[in-house]
Amino acid sequence: MLQKFPAFAGVPGPVVIIVMDGYGLPKNEAGSAIAAARKPTLDRLFAAYPNIRLRAHGTAVGMPSDDDMGNSEVGHNAIGAGQVYAQGAALVANAIAAGAIWQGEAWQQVVAGARAGTLHFIGLFSDGNVHSHIDHLRAMVVQAKAEGLRKVRIHALLDGRDVPETSALEYVGPFEAFLAEVSTDGFDARIASGGGRQHITMDRYDANWPMVEAGWRTHVLGEGPQFATATEAVQALRAQHPGTIDQDLPPFVIGEGGHPVGTIEDGDAVVFYNFRGDRAIEITRAFEEAGFDKFDRVRVPKVTYAGMLQYDGDLKLPKRFLVAPPAIQDTMGEWFAKSGIAQYACSETQKFGHVTYFWNGNRSNKFDGETWQEVPSDVVPFEQRPWMKAAEITDAMIAALRSGQYKLLRCNYANGDMVGHTGNFRAATMAIEAVDLALSRLLPAIDAAGGVALITADHGNADEMYELDKKTKQPATNPNGSFKAKTAHTLNPVPLILYDNVSGGRLGLVQRETAGLSNLAATAANLLGLEKHARWDDSLLDVR
Ligand code: 3PG
Ligand code: CO
Repeated sequence: MLQKFPAFAGVPGPVVIIVMDGYGLPKNEAGSAIAAARKPTLDRLFAAYPNIRLRAHGTAVGMPSDDDMGNSEVGHNAIGAGQVYAQGAALVANAIAAGAIWQGEAWQQVVAGARAGTLHFIGLFSDGNVHSHIDHLRAMVVQAKAEGLRKVRIHALLDGRDVPETSALEYVGPFEAFLAEVSTDGFDARIASGGGRQHITMDRYDANWPMVEAGWRTHVLGEGPQFATATEAVQALRAQHPGTIDQDLPPFVIGEGGHPVGTIEDGDAVVFYNFRGDRAIEITRAFEEAGFDKFDRVRVPKVTYAGMLQYDGDLKLPKRFLVAPPAIQDTMGEWFAKSGIAQYACSETQKFGHVTYFWNGNRSNKFDGETWQEVPSDVVPFEQRPWMKAAEITDAMIAALRSGQYKLLRCNYANGDMVGHTGNFRAATMAIEAVDLALSRLLPAIDAAGGVALITADHGNADEMYELDKKTKQPATNPNGSFKAKTAHTLNPVPLILYDNVSGGRLGLVQRETAGLSNLAATAANLLGLEKHARWDDSLLDVR
């Protein structure tokens, strides 16, 4: 049990944590869909309630450096755990730098498993450091050759979501050149298939299994239009689908004489080299799960399969992994449960695992007294429905508040992030307006329950919808004069607003230089009248 907090007995009603996904605070409002949105509720919150800025990127959330943007995994891990752990990006980079990864049993088994066949790598072809890093892939190819393996095939998921939207050739071109260079002395390494990450393989939270099926058919069965190289494939697909950005490009297969060069066969080994779990779990299940029934796999090769990390600590998925994941312990979910606090978590499918699985330290099981509510997401490009399920999440939250059953409620509004990732400025302003409208309905229900809210975000996105020119800090332009759309997250801080109409002005927030997402758990505990857990970073609550 958490101890009583001596300075404050706790608010009469519940504490509600609202994550506005992808809502950052830019230094410069040029290109901000948030600045362009009409958002009277948020404007009123910033004007009339205590609010501070939180660090949500770089080392403050366990990324290797402060040049790394934040993302939902590390952001929700930090919020939920109240602590900062070195995250997958850092753990893998360190394991490679120290060579420890090659000594591990998993890598040794992968090498042994590929000895008589092919070693396949499937993953996001990017240096975004959100799901993967291409340098990790490069190091593994070099090591595969050093281990005496003869054949490597790469299944490259094009990014354009954590990196500039049409940057695929900046990765594919140099990498194909590198593969050609190392393909000497009987070593043969090539890209064998690929496609846009939002088109194949990298679905999450069971939102769209046909995406994973399409990936299986591409990578494993080698079905799809054939090209001589991945560079050629990207060029041809762009010409066939004008205006389609990398993440949405259709799948391709590299072929020779009409035959795919790298189908996945019995006796091969497969490494899924993304370190982040949400979009790795479904394809991993397709390779590993006995009795898998999400789609007809047609042919199930007997392979030695490994993930870069273990993606789910409760499900032990995958069984074999190259680097141990962060050992996240003593989360707020766990300790509020142990303190008898009934907790409610809600989001729509696209962010459902963020407020449950990431929040609870990459665990898919509930703690005692937790209720999880998923609102099914639309399966459409979100620029077509920028309101997403903000209204339905709000309905569910209001019902949960009215039930009087919960003392801690949390939700995630996906709009600013999911629409921000499309690069569509107009849709992103509407996304923010949808969240504003949702707040205008949710806040009165919090008042009616005698509660307070902590309103924050996991990282920025809609705050910068254009690439900014490094010198002028103004939106950069394309050769035709249009602005360069930006689909990735930002490095900006995020807000923390304390919505409190119950303490009579006793409560405020302290702006500390180092304040970040990991300070939220302790802040929520104090609002509940509880002392923080010893491992949690300090509370930001100011009690007068
Ligand atoms: C994605 O997976 O959609 C992006 O790579 C990261 O977005 P998220 O961290 O906001 O989920
Ligand atoms: Co995002």
